[in-house]
Amino acid sequence: MTELLRPQAIGQDLARRDGPDKVTGTATYANETPVENPAYCHLIQADIARGRVSAVDTAEAEDVPGVIAVLTPGTSERLSSTEDKELAVLQTTDVAFRGQIVGIVIAETPEAARQAARLAAVTCSEQTHDVSLSADRVDLYKPDKVNPSFATDTSVGDVSAAMDSAAATVTETYTTAMNHNNPMEPHATTALWNDGQLTLWDSTQGVHSVRSTVAKVFGLDKGQVRVVCPYVGGGFGSKGTVHAHVVAAAMAARALPGRAMKLALTRQQMFSLVGYRTPTIQRVRLAADRDGRLSAIALDVVEQTSRIKEFAEQTAVAARMMYAAPNRATSHRLAALDVPVPSWMRAPGECPGMFGPEVAMDELAERLGIDPIEFRVRNEPARDPESGNPFSSRHLVACLRDGAERFGWADRDPRPGVRRDGDWLVGSGVASSVYPASRQAQSDATIRFADGRYAAEIGAADLGTGAWTTLAQIAADALDVPLDLVDVRIGDTDYPFASVAGGSSGTSTWGSAIVAAARAFREKYGLDPADGDEAQGQVPEYQAQERYALYAFGAQFAEVRVHADTGEIRVPRLVGVFAAGRIINPRTARSQFIGGMTMGMSMALHENSVLDPATGHVVNHDFAEYHIATCADAANIEAYWVDESDPHVNPMGSKGVGEIGIVGTAAAIANAAYHATGVRVRDLPVTLDKLLPGLD
Ligand code: MOS
Repeated sequence: MTELLRPQAIGQDLARRDGPDKVTGTATYANETPVENPAYCHLIQADIARGRVSAVDTAEAEDVPGVIAVLTPGTSERLSSTEDKELAVLQTTDVAFRGQIVGIVIAETPEAARQAARLAAVTCSEQTHDVSLSADRVDLYKPDKVNPSFATDTSVGDVSAAMDSAAATVTETYTTAMNHNNPMEPHATTALWNDGQLTLWDSTQGVHSVRSTVAKVFGLDKGQVRVVCPYVGGGFGSKGTVHAHVVAAAMAARALPGRAMKLALTRQQMFSLVGYRTPTIQRVRLAADRDGRLSAIALDVVEQTSRIKEFAEQTAVAARMMYAAPNRATSHRLAALDVPVPSWMRAPGECPGMFGPEVAMDELAERLGIDPIEFRVRNEPARDPESGNPFSSRHLVACLRDGAERFGWADRDPRPGVRRDGDWLVGSGVASSVYPASRQAQSDATIRFADGRYAAEIGAADLGTGAWTTLAQIAADALDVPLDLVDVRIGDTDYPFASVAGGSSGTSTWGSAIVAAARAFREKYGLDPADGDEAQGQVPEYQAQERYALYAFGAQFAEVRVHADTGEIRVPRLVGVFAAGRIINPRTARSQFIGGMTMGMSMALHENSVLDPATGHVVNHDFAEYHIATCADAANIEAYWVDESDPHVNPMGSKGVGEIGIVGTAAAIANAAYHATGVRVRDLPVTLDKLLPGLD
């Protein structure tokens, strides 16, 4: 147990401290960094999916007025570490996926750089590529572990025997589409190499992880690299690890010492260079007795990775802990394809991995004639079914019940396809949500006092989530001073080490470090400090994860309308209720929940990266063709939370809120679409072509 802070600033509904700078346009994002006389980079990309660059003729590119240099595999510097093949920019002539960086143009203007990149003549010898994922590939393999370090497979009891003897079963295959992160701010890096020092102003979820990765790639001491990032226009995971363009920007800077380089990816380039959510094929098996008690849960996942670097998404992990059942099995198998490297996208694992099982739960509830909420409640586990550990707190049932009340579930007619409002078929659906409540092992903070004010320093990143504000709230309560006496300094490796803003662990981790620093400060100086007083703190050692199952939970409710003639799908209402520990700031937390639910709706109805097997190219690689939920889609999205304060997670009692909002949303919508139409779609996104054949 942790000594919990007495919430004073924590829990207040506060506007973002960085809001005015953002809305007035004075907040500087990576590409807007005010540097003297910058040069601009544009990337040249491979237009084959597999093969070799045989020649790059740069003559015409170099003739473009303003072009300074063109870096190619033949002319670029040799990197110190090429262990991470995604980051081994221009180190080989091999092409491993379409869109791989094969050259960098440096010019006086972005326009000249872009024009020259088009004129660079890249000749490739092409080899046969393979980008087609299927469950019956003979080359599927079992990774050693799944992201970040979960067991690849688990098995308890005998699922097949339980399936054979059950009163009701479901055996179905569910699929989710390839999805690409599209934060509002495209990825960008400004880089300056000067006197043996590399400075990167990078749009990132973690300045310290960029520093250590870049230092390793270039063979520099960490002290030679500074990374600065005060503001980020969204990341969702795509800015959580270093991608090749960051190395390219640093490489360009090192080619022209003393000259700052600006590199901003285009929206189209983001579809090959900054990761994506792998498509998944999920075979789900569920078995239950007549009373609706599950006897078996199994999830076998097939997904893809790239040939040059493995990313094994942990799609089946949520199925391991969600519901009680004596017989259980999960597995992950990968196909290594000639595709860009997949990576993190909001709730990697849980988000796609709760689609198949939560739709299967709906299907089984219907077969049993049990209400889908009641069915879930009946299968609440008393302890984590895999580890046997108690949950530090688990309020899924409270979320389901509260959501049912708010949504108006009680009047629901369970029969599918029977409600009509004019030309529209109307239905409702529910699904559960879960996300781990984690905190990283390392983060440090400093508290300083001067001129009557306190400052909390930590190299944390605010992706747009609200860290500028919530960390001040935590520091104020930890110091027991009014919030307006506390400043926060983040987004710079010159501040103490901060873990990456990923896995919804940021506030939990950084907040723990700030609390430790504040307590050390008070111990050292009492309540009446002097100018210049300072104290350090770090995340305390933490063993709760060995004794408790630590998760946030939620319940998602969707109303869906389907046009009876055209199959057009609308989601007029989403209600989400979450149990995510103590809420630090209701305003920014609500934004996270609603943002996650909106992104989940987007996944349910729209997002689908279409990978052309003939070319290995994502053909819809722009906002004209890659559809994302917009304001018109998000008609009415409501997020609520139940009271919860968990003494096992951190001194704030809070769990992460960044990712749980997306988990379960797509299943709730698919279940509601079935309830509206009687057509069961098991393949995301749920589009009208999949519903129409089943409509009368
Ligand atoms: Mo989030 S996908 O863990 O950055």
